[in-house]
Amino acid sequence: MPSQPLSLNIVGCGKLGQTLGYLWQKNQVFHIQNICNTHIESARQACVFIGTGRACEQEALQTADVWLIATPDEQIAQTCTDIVHANRINAGNIVFHCSGALTSAELTTAQQAGAYTASLHPIMSFSETEQAPRGFQGTFCGYEGDSPALKVLTPSFTRIGAQCFPVSAEHKVLYHTAAVFASNYLTALLEQSLRTYEKAGIPRHTATKILRPIMTQTLSTALEQGTHQALTGPIQRGDVETVAKQVEACQQWDPSAADLYSILGHLTVSLAKKRKDLDPSLLTEISARLNSKTTG
Ligand SMILES: NC(=O)c1ccc[n+]([C@@H]2O[C@H](COP(=O)([O-])OP(=O)(O)OC[C@H]3O[C@@H](n4cnc5c(N)ncnc54)[C@H](OP(=O)(O)O)[C@@H]3O)[C@@H](O)[C@H]2O)c1
Repeated sequence: MPSQPLSLNIVGCGKLGQTLGYLWQKNQVFHIQNICNTHIESARQACVFIGTGRACEQEALQTADVWLIATPDEQIAQTCTDIVHANRINAGNIVFHCSGALTSAELTTAQQAGAYTASLHPIMSFSETEQAPRGFQGTFCGYEGDSPALKVLTPSFTRIGAQCFPVSAEHKVLYHTAAVFASNYLTALLEQSLRTYEKAGIPRHTATKILRPIMTQTLSTALEQGTHQALTGPIQRGDVETVAKQVEACQQWDPSAADLYSILGHLTVSLAKKRKDLDPSLLTEISARLNSKTTG
């Protein structure tokens, strides 16, 4: 990093922009210059939270070395284009966004103007702005983009506690999908389990208590020892009849529960195969029973 902090404009300074801005200001990583939101009052509040910066409308943006565009994803490309067309972004500037789903290609108009572009995605939920700066330490950030931009940006994230790692632009969608499986769908899976307990006559608040130890222990073992090592239950034991009964019970109750049971069951069979401590013919039989919901 250069000895004089580079100037940074944040366009779209909501939950993520304020957290990063606060941390960069606190650690004197960037000279935070302009803060621009849809509403000027919101930009003013962001400046108060960050502890520096000048709130302004888009037309009043000054030139800057580095630009963070942290609007909602669907606004990033147009916002970038608007700033380029206003001749605020110059050759050699660095322009980046923090979306997990989008690549630096969203910033093509800035690249065409001679800027270096990148995306750096913190894998963190910035829901509580007040709390977020404390929770940022150790956050993993997937990055891709132009080397001259990354040469400046990855150290600027590391200095506020991030752990940066490269992601290929080609696989960025799958990279983001992976987090959806682990985070959003884990919540959905918990919901499915609670509904199944409820159907079995166990109230939700009791079911929530029942699930806490088994879920936390399973997650901890799977993360420490590997997913196939953490596997327990009827498929891992080769208990064909139990699996068949559960498929049938789900089918009678809710076909979508049976679909989910079957899809995850096939994935579980593939994990059980990796353990090599079960007769493969039992696993073949289990796969057939999992398919039986569609074949009749
Ligand atoms: N939140 C997270 O947990 C999280 C995690 C990782 C990555 N990200 C990424 O971070 C980016 C920002 O997300 P966020 O959650 O911080 O969004 P947010 O809290 O909704 O904030 C978005 C901000 O953008 C401003 N804005 C909207 N359109 C604008 C425009 N055309 N020009 C200027 N400002 C505009 C809004 O202004 P007003 O306040 O005036 O409405 C608001 O302050 C997204 O790319 C998102 O994918 C978010």
